[in-house]
Amino acid sequence: MDIYFAPLQGFTDYVYRNAYAECFGGVEKFFTPFLRVEDGEVRKKDAVDLTATAPTMRPSLVPQIIASSREEFDILLQYVISQGFNCCDINFGCPFPQQTARMHGAGILAHPDKVREVLDAAAKYEADLKLSLKMRLGNVDKKECLAIIDIINDTPLSFVTIHPRIGKQMYKGSVDLEAFADVATKLKHPVVYNGDIVDNESFRRIATMFPNLNAVMIGRGILSNPFLPESIKTGNQIFDRKKYLNFINLLIEGYQNHFNNSEYMTLDKMKTFWDYPLRGVDKKCVKAIQKARTLSEYVAMVAVGVNGVV
Ligand SMILES: Cc1cc2nc3c(=O)[nH]c(=O)nc-3n(C[C@H](O)[C@H](O)[C@H](O)COP(=O)(O)O)c2cc1C
Repeated sequence: MDIYFAPLQGFTDYVYRNAYAECFGGVEKFFTPFLRVEDGEVRKKDAVDLTATAPTMRPSLVPQIIASSREEFDILLQYVISQGFNCCDINFGCPFPQQTARMHGAGILAHPDKVREVLDAAAKYEADLKLSLKMRLGNVDKKECLAIIDIINDTPLSFVTIHPRIGKQMYKGSVDLEAFADVATKLKHPVVYNGDIVDNESFRRIATMFPNLNAVMIGRGILSNPFLPESIKTGNQIFDRKKYLNFINLLIEGYQNHFNNSEYMTLDKMKTFWDYPLRGVDKKCVKAIQKARTLSEYVAMVAVGVNGVV
């Protein structure tokens, strides 16, 4: 089964994606964190994140957008096309109030008329873009998705990714597999499952329950174990210290370039990856990494942490 690397705002930016693709295998598609409109144009930071994608990984990259009006969709989709991409994912899942309050992300799910308006606007680009959708079950109620299934089925989409939580849950509580099964059967598009796959066992559970899935999408599970896609594909638990440390070095190099050689900013960024600590590294070591005062201290502490991983 194909594995897609979920978009994770603040984590899977171009530096991370480029380095990841150079070091690890097992991922068929990568998604950018969502691009949005700011002051009538594509937010500058988002544009840089898309255009700095390494040429070798462009074929496996799906730009993602978030919007809630025809005008915003036009700006974003035309930009994606102008950058030479032929696919685009639409975010109907972001649970953060800054987005949902504007009917963006999961905030649009309870508004069928708005869903129809924006999906019709997106469908106009069908000849240039393979569109896909990433959604939750609802924002406040898991039944919200049922009222928009016909609209989604009427839209030309290459697949629909479902994260079976509601927006109000954020990332807490459990995924609702029963509700997922119900929506998946009602959708005529290929379905991708997303949520809480963190190891070979949780993958097998989903793959066995839903044998007709097109793919699974994994986010946090890969952040805390970049070898997870390869482990799932081979059925073995893979870990290679040298490869992991090389990945860390590539990230440091990439962020130093991005931050014009600012050690402070690079170090700050590198520490954020330990919000999702590498599986198997003990807590004391994670704390020490997060307290590193220089990049060489950081690298040394990561090397100590990695030595404890079995
Ligand atoms: C920090 C963070 C940032 C995220 N950013 C995005 C985003 O930009 N677009 C999106 O569709 N989902 C985003 N998500 C949701 C993830 O793509 C994914 O749906 C969620 O983490 C559940 O999958 P997982 O359990 O495999 O991590 C984000 C999640 C987290 C935790």
